[in-house]
Amino acid sequence: MKRACVIGWPIEHSRSPLIHGHWLKTYGIDGSYGKVAVRPEDAATFLRSLAANGTVGCNVTVPLKEIAFATADRREASAEAVGAANTVWLEDGRLVVANTDTYGFMTHFARSVPGLDVAGARIAILGAGGAARAIAYGMQEAGASDIAILNRTRERAEALASAFGHPVRAVDWSERTTAATWADVIINTTTIGMKGEGDLGIDFMTAEPTCIVADIVYVPLQTGLLRAATEAGLATVDGLGMLLHQAVPGFERWFGVRPEVTAELRQLIVNDIEGV
Ligand code: ATR
Repeated sequence: MKRACVIGWPIEHSRSPLIHGHWLKTYGIDGSYGKVAVRPEDAATFLRSLAANGTVGCNVTVPLKEIAFATADRREASAEAVGAANTVWLEDGRLVVANTDTYGFMTHFARSVPGLDVAGARIAILGAGGAARAIAYGMQEAGASDIAILNRTRERAEALASAFGHPVRAVDWSERTTAATWADVIINTTTIGMKGEGDLGIDFMTAEPTCIVADIVYVPLQTGLLRAATEAGLATVDGLGMLLHQAVPGFERWFGVRPEVTAELRQLIVNDIEGV
């Protein structure tokens, strides 16, 4: 039996076991996927012992993504771009890492708004953490013409912009209120709106009607940002799809089947979020 897991500190709230457990059942695979609480100081040792513990790989969540990146023997370009890894597997005993958040966001985004060509689009990313880096990388690779990073702490936006280069640039946090008038796509990667807390204060009254608004926060599923955009008649992209799609490459590596993100899987996680 093949065993995989997700590690983090804390880990109780991870929904990855639900996702991978659903796929194991759907495809009739003799495998398991659990969750393991691993302290940051123990993470490198845990990863180094994967093979000895009979584990084929794991997902890594906060605050261990940078440690997984640093511990790896080989890093895929997706991880190099972000400086953090969320997916780990073994190749001939060597620890290999990737960051599938870029894939997860870009795949869900393309499926949600198939009419939008990212090539040439103007993107506003709110936040400058790991998720912002993953999305900026995806948008840069896809040929966006302008990628504005707006962050409360401006230095982090500037660091991200200088690490990526053109067309990524730092824009003042205060400019977010008018983003719907100058960006084709607005993406919230900050924690604002999580569990209904906080408000980004974006004015959608003057928005371009074609502006698309995405949030990576998925609890609640419809954040205050997405609700305001919907009320203004704008197309929205929720955060749950990124979570579902980022899980695909890991499952395929560990269990040998490329799984589908279906409406049934989505409903399973929605029920969990809503406590049904
Ligand atoms: P991750 O790596 O998961 O993307 P992170 O590195 O913790 O997350 O980043 C969280 C983001 O939310 C940051 O951009 C943070 O802004 P700062 O860099 O200024 O800390 C942003 N954020 C969190 N709370 C915020 C708030 N109340 N107002 C504005 N931005 C906030």
